[in-house]
Amino acid sequence: MLKPDNTPSLDQDINRREVPALKTHLMVLGQDGEALFPAGVADMDFKAPQPVLDALQKRLDHGVFGYETVPDGLMPALINWLHIRHNWTVNKSHILRAPNVLNILAIAASLFTDEGDGVIVQPPVFFDFYDILHENNRRMISNPLILNDGRYTMDFDGLETLASDVRTKMIFLCNPHNPVGRVWTKSELQKLGDICARHGVLVVSDEIHGDITFSGHKYTPFSSLGAAYSNNAITCLSPAKSFNIAACCSAFTVISNDARRTAFQVENSRLTVNKNNAFASVAMEAAYSAGAPWLNDVLIYLEENLLSVRNCVKDIPGVELIDPDGTFLLWLDFRGLGLAPDDLTAFLRTKAGWAVTRGQAFGREGEGFARLNIACTKAKLAKALAQLEKAVENR
Ligand SMILES: Cc1ncc(COP(=O)(O)O)c(C=O)c1O
Repeated sequence: MLKPDNTPSLDQDINRREVPALKTHLMVLGQDGEALFPAGVADMDFKAPQPVLDALQKRLDHGVFGYETVPDGLMPALINWLHIRHNWTVNKSHILRAPNVLNILAIAASLFTDEGDGVIVQPPVFFDFYDILHENNRRMISNPLILNDGRYTMDFDGLETLASDVRTKMIFLCNPHNPVGRVWTKSELQKLGDICARHGVLVVSDEIHGDITFSGHKYTPFSSLGAAYSNNAITCLSPAKSFNIAACCSAFTVISNDARRTAFQVENSRLTVNKNNAFASVAMEAAYSAGAPWLNDVLIYLEENLLSVRNCVKDIPGVELIDPDGTFLLWLDFRGLGLAPDDLTAFLRTKAGWAVTRGQAFGREGEGFARLNIACTKAKLAKALAQLEKAVENR
């Protein structure tokens, strides 16, 4: 299925089982999960942008894959992207390469906090934050988001109290926030940044979803707020979500503070995680320099999918959509169905045919919710929504 300009249409149904995709793997879906709607793992079902495919093909055709350094065009492409798309001017010397975002979070926690120190998280939040803190023997300090009238906000009073404890050293900020879809505003980020600076709490900002925002919402890179903020921050960036290249890209960290950046660099060397992957570099450079038209199309498509979910869910009693500002992950509130968390998971799976991420994976605050990935074809989403409607009707 091609568009008039010969590029693949986003409506094209691509069989993800032709490669060992996690989203459709039985390891994730469960042994009897073949027929389920696979909407858990946070990637898209769309082919990567054509310029990325072309650049990878060209690199493959070259045929020699010996040791390489970073291509000259990669950092300028990233810097230009951040400047044009997000109005953030980043000094090239402040950017370090990393294998992936989780690796940055883990290194930041292990380098800039000690065992037993407290790290703040704001649940419901991306479950890997918990695993990283647990595996590094850091204390997870929970400052749950507040849900009011279908919209999540941060609890700044709670944050102030928790940050003021001298044993609290860091916060993992999710900006935009997976799974609740909030794109934090400039003033929310300033408030958070001021509290953290006041109490010497380092802000580690995971901005992997920053490029995916809906009309009327604007992603603000935390460190773009000014030197007072960037000097107390470590930012994690990656094109993985934006261009659907999670399996063939790496990540970047922006650290303005010289001492912290040097420490990070030394740690990268010690762990020898500074090797270059030619395909990752080529894919990222092509994505940042020529992927914008594709991403713009994807954002329109996602917004149309969001509209379909909104329209469908408003007529389903007991189910509410938490309207997102961004990300392709929707947070659905099923508490109105009155099911216990495990029963809800079973209901969605066996009655609606949905393999979504259970809300409790994001913390206790997620009980009664589920996360739905809408980065799939409209046809697949329509079928899944009809199944949900029927399942609730037949209860
Ligand atoms: C908020 C967030 N951070 C990080 C990741 C994973 O990033 P990476 O694959 O670069 O480790 C994800 C993936 O779902 C995510 O949602």
